[in-house]
Amino acid sequence: MEKRAAILVSSDSGYKGEREDKSGPVICRIVQEAGYEVIEYKILPDEQEMLSAWMKRIADEGKAELILTSGGTGFSKRDCMPEATMEIAQKVVPGIPEAMRAYSAQFTKRAMLSRAVCVIRENTLIVNLPGSPKAVTECLEYIMSELDHGVEILTGEARECARK
Ligand code: MTE
Repeated sequence: MEKRAAILVSSDSGYKGEREDKSGPVICRIVQEAGYEVIEYKILPDEQEMLSAWMKRIADEGKAELILTSGGTGFSKRDCMPEATMEIAQKVVPGIPEAMRAYSAQFTKRAMLSRAVCVIRENTLIVNLPGSPKAVTECLEYIMSELDHGVEILTGEARECARK
């Protein structure tokens, strides 16, 4: 089965073109190395309705098995990616953000400030990542192989959890 990923960056300044997005390309590289085709890559402002509508469309139209988001998970007034993600959640997957935060603590204790969530909608796994390219690299490289296994179970590609 071809595996498809969609990437969504939440950033007011990135959306206005005031800041170059460096995290999207990092996500692209890591998912492509894991065998995914990137079918969409979008930068939107920190607006809950726009973010959730974009993710809902990808999931409901079956465009990608994996949505990776970057940014908007912190404490700034405009940060709303976890809220946008929860708004369209059908199932919650707490273990993935728990693992990201626990692993990331060795790099920075500020990892605990990311409110990232992970959910399932239809046949799509949606994972929030923090905003900086450094954080994206640290988090995604750590979870990528397990994300891939989760996607295979979600889509019926894998039926059993081979012990690892
Ligand atoms: N996680 C890792 N692995 N590495 C990091 O450098 N930065 C943290 C945290 N998670 C960080 C990390 C910081 S400083 C913040 S404020 C939060 O992610 C939220 O980031 P966001 O608002 O860009 O999503």
